[in-house]
Amino acid sequence: MKNILVTGGAGFIGSNFVHHLLGKHAGYNIVVFDKLTYAGRLENLKPAEGNPRFAFVRGDICDAGAVTASIREHSIDTIVNFAAETHVDRSIMESDAVVKTNVNGAHVLLEAAREFEIERFHQISTDEVYGAIPAPNRSKEGDPLEPRSPYSASKAGAEHLVYAYFVTYGLPVTTTRGSNNIGPYHYPEKAVPLFTTNAIDNQPLPIYGDGKQMRDYQYVLDHCEAIDLVLHHGQLGEIYNVGTGVETHNIDMARKILDSLGKPHSLITHVVDRAGHDRRYALDISKLRALGWTPSHNFDQALELTVRWFVENEWWWRPIKTGEYLDYYRKQYVERAVAN
Ligand code: NAD
Ligand code: TYD
Repeated sequence: MKNILVTGGAGFIGSNFVHHLLGKHAGYNIVVFDKLTYAGRLENLKPAEGNPRFAFVRGDICDAGAVTASIREHSIDTIVNFAAETHVDRSIMESDAVVKTNVNGAHVLLEAAREFEIERFHQISTDEVYGAIPAPNRSKEGDPLEPRSPYSASKAGAEHLVYAYFVTYGLPVTTTRGSNNIGPYHYPEKAVPLFTTNAIDNQPLPIYGDGKQMRDYQYVLDHCEAIDLVLHHGQLGEIYNVGTGVETHNIDMARKILDSLGKPHSLITHVVDRAGHDRRYALDISKLRALGWTPSHNFDQALELTVRWFVENEWWWRPIKTGEYLDYYRKQYVERAVAN
């Protein structure tokens, strides 16, 4: 492993992963291949600018010509696929781009990986592919998949293709299923950065339904460590859950953000629930632990680091919360509430 193509590397987790790799592996060259959708931001890659081991290519993973040209030009031997349309609410409003990028795009990458006899193809997947998990159950990697949103269904589709390429063509693949990440460069349409930035501005925190849904919120750099571990020590053809193994109610997460910022709980506003909202995700992470991994941050530590980052980096998120973002916000929170 030497020349790594990180697709979707200008997004939230992908950019954190790039910084992690550049810092940890002195011998690796990293090429980010990213379409720069609304969620992809060159600012996220600023710390890598000027590094001779880093290059950026603007391109769409659905464009086979652009993908193969990049692989050839940079002698790529490893692909880590983060590129995706990642927001459940947007996938409910409009699923075309979700299916195209998450399924067809993954297929284009797999075909290219096969053609160039890539050493490793790693797929970044999600705990959402398991569907809603009633307590006290925890999802294990061999459990059936029951995705329930266009987003999670598309991610499950991609995973199936990845596994099919392992079985059918012997492509060396691994997959990780991460729980909800939080941390620097998190686009403020997702719950934690949305609530944090709204709270900083004394704006309402829109909680869907009763807020008793549960998520395993993990620190993004712990997730990056886990992906690194699986890339180096994971078994080919295998899938690994990545999370803390501890879940939090959304309403408690919102209260902790407000407490951390010294803001009143009265900013919490209950709004119409998400359609088909998965009540709980919960992972069994023993398979990854057996590889020697353990998360370095619990939820409280991860949330505190995240809130501080948003307080200290208004330059990053303020410009995002304009233009297209406001159109989305209006559709999602104002028109939807009125329609219901
Ligand atoms: P993000 O939305 O912040 O970033 C996605 C990136 O993909 C952006 O840079 C975007 O420009 C790029 N992209 C989108 N379509 C593309 C295309 N057709 N071609 C090339 N690039 C394209 O997402 P994220 O939160 O960083 O998630 C990254 C990956 O991790 C996704 O595959 C997601 O499903 C998975 N994941 C995310 C979480 C989470 O909590 N955020 C949890 C588990 C798994
Ligand atoms: P989100 O960050 O969108 O991640 P995902 O849906 O992929 O888990 O949402 C996290 C949780 O927070 C989820 O249960 C939905 C809920 N949520 C709200 O209550 N209000 C919001 O405004 C958003 C965006 C999410």
